[in-house]
Amino acid sequence: MNKLRKTRAWKALQAHYATFQKTHLRELFTQDAERARRYVVEAAGWRLDYAKQRVNDETLQLLFELARERHLEAQRDAMFAGEAVNTTEQRAALHIALRAPATAVIKTAGVNVVPEVHSVLARMAKCAETIRTGEWKGYSGRPIRNIVNIGIGGSDLGPVMAFEALRYYSDRQLQLRFVSNVDGTDFTEAVRGLRPDETLFIVASKTFTTLETMTNAHTARNWLRAAVGQDKKKLAPHFLALSTNEKAANAFGIPSEQMFGFAEWVGGRYSMDSAIGLSTMIAIGPEAFHAMLVGFHAMDEHFRSAPLEQNMPVIMGLLNIWYADFFEASTVAVLPYSHYLKRFSAYLQQLTMESNGKHVTLDGQEVDYHTGSIFWGEPGTNGQHSFYQLIHQGTHLIPCDFIAFAEALNSLGRHQDILFANVVAQAEALAMGKTLAEVQQEGIAAELAPHKVMAGNRPSNLLLAKRLTPETLGALVALYEHSVFTQAAIWNTNPFDQWGVELGKQLAARIVKEIESPKAKLTHDASTNAAIDWYRHARRD
Ligand code: F6P
Repeated sequence: MNKLRKTRAWKALQAHYATFQKTHLRELFTQDAERARRYVVEAAGWRLDYAKQRVNDETLQLLFELARERHLEAQRDAMFAGEAVNTTEQRAALHIALRAPATAVIKTAGVNVVPEVHSVLARMAKCAETIRTGEWKGYSGRPIRNIVNIGIGGSDLGPVMAFEALRYYSDRQLQLRFVSNVDGTDFTEAVRGLRPDETLFIVASKTFTTLETMTNAHTARNWLRAAVGQDKKKLAPHFLALSTNEKAANAFGIPSEQMFGFAEWVGGRYSMDSAIGLSTMIAIGPEAFHAMLVGFHAMDEHFRSAPLEQNMPVIMGLLNIWYADFFEASTVAVLPYSHYLKRFSAYLQQLTMESNGKHVTLDGQEVDYHTGSIFWGEPGTNGQHSFYQLIHQGTHLIPCDFIAFAEALNSLGRHQDILFANVVAQAEALAMGKTLAEVQQEGIAAELAPHKVMAGNRPSNLLLAKRLTPETLGALVALYEHSVFTQAAIWNTNPFDQWGVELGKQLAARIVKEIESPKAKLTHDASTNAAIDWYRHARRD
């Protein structure tokens, strides 16, 4: 048995779960009139209302005990102190340093990393301003108006999400587009209608070796060459690089002055506030980008210093443990009631699942409990007319994170009131449901009544902020980052590596070669061989 299952708190939670699991939220609200007031925590512009979670004081007390038994605070402090918490890659995970104020001192391996972070931020700001003011010219002398970010995973999802989320604050004279997929359609559609002399490609890749990104970067260069010819000088103003790999960026033809670096201790999925965020900064301007960093930092400070019982990321992380490991709920739906957050769930998928999709503990032992949940979602109210039915009346327990704002960025008549009414209504319907007696009282025919019964007792968080701003977005992302960390600390897994994606990458590289040399002997399993063979023929016919 794994150490986690041997902890006192885990055993106590199991015993508590056995008697508590069927307790209905209706009952919990009746038993405790103060619940709606007490199960609320506020930090960094956000209000987390977790009163509609299937917990009582005992559950929470045991979850906090579990966190203490697993030394969550010490693990958190080790991360903030720049220790090599990413043990399989022997490096720190210091994304919190990316948003620390210039006066902060955060050391790893004896070196204060903050000055370098701020020097890159200053260079990024200068570059962003030159582009935003139209001073950055393309080969024909026309100002750059189109920015195409080429990257994938953390070098795409964060920038796309942030651009969409903060589009309201963006410079509408600039066109921002994103290319990630190696499917040529992505590149083709992204540059459709763009003038090459007004287009700047940002090659965003921590390693500068990722197959998809490098393939797209080469295609971008060819696309420009078709317009400019081979003159390297003319090509030069059309590329920037965001990477830790200066050598490879230089070898591609991007000089160091047009490159923005970051450190190895920035994980791909934790990098949207590093140099990888340059496209965001160009879109919204350096000032708003700094405001986003302030939001990140405010949540970092809250996570670092608030007692566990009032710590928003800790509470959210522990609730995930409660559902994943005790109720065996395998998914979490993230449902933002802001259309600007339409890419937020896609972003969270990488943050949560690449981080916590792990099967061994830090010391390499197979886990005997569930780890990372499946995160998914769509903005409300759209999702309501799609998959909510299953959350309301299906057989799976799906805890939901509702995210909403008081103020509309685009105020149109009653839209915002209707939007907010819907988020509250959904959370209420999920929690309280509708009993058979209530259905019968409505005079519903007996044969129809069971179909109209809603069991309720579907848990949710309600995350509220006054307004979607760069600050609240930064704080929201940091909230999920630290919730992910909290869960990994309990599970004793590494949320900063991603070895699982490597095998697929290696096999793809091998299969590309086999496809391109049709006589090569295939030595995969029979099914894989057949698929490659089918493709070779289908391509030829
Ligand atoms: O898919 C694995 C991964 O390594 C991610 O963790 C990372 O965000 C992505 O690939 C892109 O990597 P890079 O920024 O090095 O191109």
